[in-house]
Amino acid sequence: MTAGGCTIMRTGRNQDIVSRVEEAYQEFLSRIGEDEFTEPYRKVCRSIRRELEQINEKYSRKLGRTFISQITYRIKTPESCLNKLLKKNQAPDWENAPQLLGDIAGVRVVCSFLDDMYKLAEIISESKTLEVVKVKDYVRNPKESGYQSLHIIVLAPVETVCGPAGAGREACVRKKAEIQIRTQAMNFWASVEHHFVYKNETERFLEDYDNRFRKDLKECARTIYRIDRKMLRIRKKMEKAQRAGRRNGRKSADKTARKK
Ligand code: GTP
Ligand code: MG
Repeated sequence: MTAGGCTIMRTGRNQDIVSRVEEAYQEFLSRIGEDEFTEPYRKVCRSIRRELEQINEKYSRKLGRTFISQITYRIKTPESCLNKLLKKNQAPDWENAPQLLGDIAGVRVVCSFLDDMYKLAEIISESKTLEVVKVKDYVRNPKESGYQSLHIIVLAPVETVCGPAGAGREACVRKKAEIQIRTQAMNFWASVEHHFVYKNETERFLEDYDNRFRKDLKECARTIYRIDRKMLRIRKKMEKAQRAGRRNGRKSADKTARKK
């Protein structure tokens, strides 16, 4: 059997242990895969998406351009939960998994510009429904791979309408979720790297990756950061020019009106 990146060989002596480990893994996988376990996380994702859509509507109107261009979510697969716990040297205990894994519910948000990412993070931190538990800024401190993104772990209500228990409404249950905020360029890099490298851990491939691709990908990530900053500078200059253009337009319209 294979789990956590290692293969357990069956031999006469360890047969019994392997069977018990296998059983424990199977129990974990089936519990984590049950609707009863995943449904609250799905609800959390949907409620976060709703909140982000409202934020997007408000800020896109205010800015006169798209604030958030994409919101997607996913529930971590049971296999991925198991592998992550094993990587963290934790026992595959399904009851403890929610405490140990902050990203069973994952929401990904794509913005166009760097400053929009931080504005969104600020809005989330001021939200009445979401409580920020942890922020990991992989833009200011990229991962060794070059990966950039802003990760915010929040506690979010499972039901949107929460009231005190026994008040005729469902008691407010909260679950952890990881909100990943990226620019479009960062998302492009992460999607490609995720497909070929992050989840692909076979030794042969990693050997090749170390030798040939690591440097190129890292260089691309740095270029992407430079482009993101440049696009932000260009946008700011264009906005300034637009404002000046409108002011001049108004002035000449006033002059014409006065002449009449
Ligand atoms: P803890 O949160 O500290 O438990 O660790 P973690 O493994 O969850 O790390 P982190 O929160 O930093 O990253 C989790 C998610 O970020 C992953 O599921 C990926 O979606 C993304 N991610 C992190 N590192 C990389 C990377 O190097 N490449 C890509 N493509 N994605 C990454
Ligand atoms: Mg995480």
